Amino acid sequence: MVVKSGGEAALAEWQGCFAEFLPGLTLRWWDDPSLDPTAIDYALVWAPEAGRLRRFVNLKAIFGAGAGVDLITRDPDWPSHVPLVRCVPPEAGQRMAEYVIWAALSIVRDARRMVSAQHSGHWDEFEPARTARDYRLGIMGLGEIGQAVAQAVRAVGFQVQGWSRTPKNLPGIRGFAGADERDAFLASTDILVCLLPATPETAGMIAAPLLSCLPKGASLIQVGRGMHHNMADILAALGTGQLAGAIMDVFDQEPLPADHPAWRHPRITISPHNASTPTRRERARFIAGAIQALHRGETFSCLYDPKRGY
Ligand code: NAP
Ligand code: GLV
Repeated sequence: MVVKSGGEAALAEWQGCFAEFLPGLTLRWWDDPSLDPTAIDYALVWAPEAGRLRRFVNLKAIFGAGAGVDLITRDPDWPSHVPLVRCVPPEAGQRMAEYVIWAALSIVRDARRMVSAQHSGHWDEFEPARTARDYRLGIMGLGEIGQAVAQAVRAVGFQVQGWSRTPKNLPGIRGFAGADERDAFLASTDILVCLLPATPETAGMIAAPLLSCLPKGASLIQVGRGMHHNMADILAALGTGQLAGAIMDVFDQEPLPADHPAWRHPRITISPHNASTPTRRERARFIAGAIQALHRGETFSCLYDPKRGY
């Protein structure tokens, strides 16, 4: 298996993890000059340089190092006849659920107000007006991760609804599907969570027309991809009060440039694209299981579908 994820320094850790779950698999670094590309069965990659994957002519499968594989499929020459497996171990849903619960409860409890009061040494006595039960939390994208998040936030007490391309019937979750039901979904969403994949259809979706469908004073938790949102429109919606706040983990340009206005905005909370990053051990266990399933000729849910584009 050839590896390009986490830099060359991470290779030894990957090797140790795979030795535990799939002894016998040899891991080699992506830029190793002694590599024979014809001897490679598997690739484990995050953002391969365009044109590089197709040199491995005997690939049996490509494993994304993350759940979203857009940094692989952006290569016009990626070998799309080879199975591409998105890396979604169970810990990915758990980690994302923890992030969204943290973000949503920080909205419910007005955590920014408390941090700001602490900075100025001000005993700002206030009671949150509402509890989680009073908020309608809407998740765009009810896939592997979106569904795990939906169940977890429901358990905290939020009224949960979701929007997906095809209809879903999930216990206790109000479902909306397709372009026709999008605006009704948005109109009944107080906290909007983005967990969509990066596709031509979802590019630039979180922009003024979508934001104007939300109830005034709604909040955004953006954990999808930077390409989903238009930052100028988010800043404008924060300016008018259409959006009360935004908690953002992903950006068009990462790392976010030091002079970006989002850093200093009083109602934006930023995290460094770490909402859900399973450990290498968690990912190796998942990938080892996927390799064994492929050997047995089984199919599984995290295969990228070139027709859908995710
Ligand atoms: P997934 O299983 O492929 O689910 C994608 C969901 O989006 C599905 O419910 C799908 O609908 C829906 N969808 C796709 N296109 C749509 C459209 N045009 N309109 C409405 N719904 C649409 O993906 P996942 O594993 O849950 O991951 C979702 C995304 O989360 C990743 O692609 C990545 O961008 C992001 N992510 C971020 C982090 C982070 O740390 N920030 C970590 C992991 C993942 P159907 O169910 O009908 O197919
Ligand atoms: C992280 O962003 C992932 O797609 O796993």
